[in-house]
Amino acid sequence: MAVANSYVILNGKVEGCKSKTSWSPGDPLPWTANICQGVPFNIAIKYERCKEIPDFKTKADDVFIVTYPKSGTTWMQQIVKCLQTKGYPETVEKTVGELNPWFEEMEQKDADAMTSPRIFKSHSPYHMAAKGNTPDSKCKYLHVVRNPKDVCVSQYYHYKGFWEYEYTGEFPEFCDLFIHGQVECGSWFDFVMSWYTCSEEVLHITYEDLKARPAEVIPKVANFLGLECNDTIVGLTIEKSSFSKMKTDAKSNMTWMNDLRHAGAVPFMRKGKVGDWRGHFTEEQSQRLDAVFQEKSSAEMRIAFWGKDIAQTLEAVQGDADQESESPS
Ligand code: A3P
Repeated sequence: MAVANSYVILNGKVEGCKSKTSWSPGDPLPWTANICQGVPFNIAIKYERCKEIPDFKTKADDVFIVTYPKSGTTWMQQIVKCLQTKGYPETVEKTVGELNPWFEEMEQKDADAMTSPRIFKSHSPYHMAAKGNTPDSKCKYLHVVRNPKDVCVSQYYHYKGFWEYEYTGEFPEFCDLFIHGQVECGSWFDFVMSWYTCSEEVLHITYEDLKARPAEVIPKVANFLGLECNDTIVGLTIEKSSFSKMKTDAKSNMTWMNDLRHAGAVPFMRKGKVGDWRGHFTEEQSQRLDAVFQEKSSAEMRIAFWGKDIAQTLEAVQGDADQESESPS
């Protein structure tokens, strides 16, 4: 789907315009973004930084936890922390944000100064990501992917919570923006396909699998990172990376970002569910997103991530409508 962007610049800040009830290609962007190489980003990401990323010297033991925002990044960071500490993350003082800094936001000198093995968090589509060009600089990527409808809902609350987006719209407009790829990091469909089709060493993990089968998924993560893993470590990791544990853990619940949030905003650790989109999408919105999902992603990718092709994929990721609600939103 070709989208007529409301911004004509390739690099620079775009002030958000007044929200409406819907958004169509060509309308001004209703949230404040930094455009980097034509892709809208959070204003924390500067285009000068994006420009220097291709020159970053990756090392063979670097790992990037790469995700489209709201796909379970923080959850994966906590899992990695649990594995690194053999199930005892509480023994490490640093927050997951300090342990795996946001690569696009940090300064080059700070990334250079990190002790190896370095694990970064990244929200770059593949073409903008750091990557090594020589055999001794080829690093690894841990990609977490989540049902786009749940990502869209989670991202909506994220925009409402963090004042830096200056977003005042309601869900129907946000859903239009998401479907047209006019949200942070651009199109979910392009982002996910870019990582699926790249030729790097990538471990793809779905949020839905992690939720349903953590005892199978966590050893794969440990193996990919070359970390020790046994039943005790897996058990402790499942326990200490659970939604309820993380929600009250000040080193993984993102409350250190609270000064960037509106008072009374829905917490960062919001619901942590599969299928929450059902309470937000109308049938028409759902069908529109399904059509773009089908058009912009390959059957091979959908089968690789969710085991089945489109109809069954959508069924598989739609989630259990009867799951217990954990927060009012
Ligand atoms: P919801 O808004 O749907 O609750 P990210 O870290 O990429 O920004 O993703 C945030 C989303 O992951 C939020 O989704 C958050 O609640 C969810 N999440 C964080 N920790 C989780 C956990 N331990 N289990 C399940 N979901 C978790």
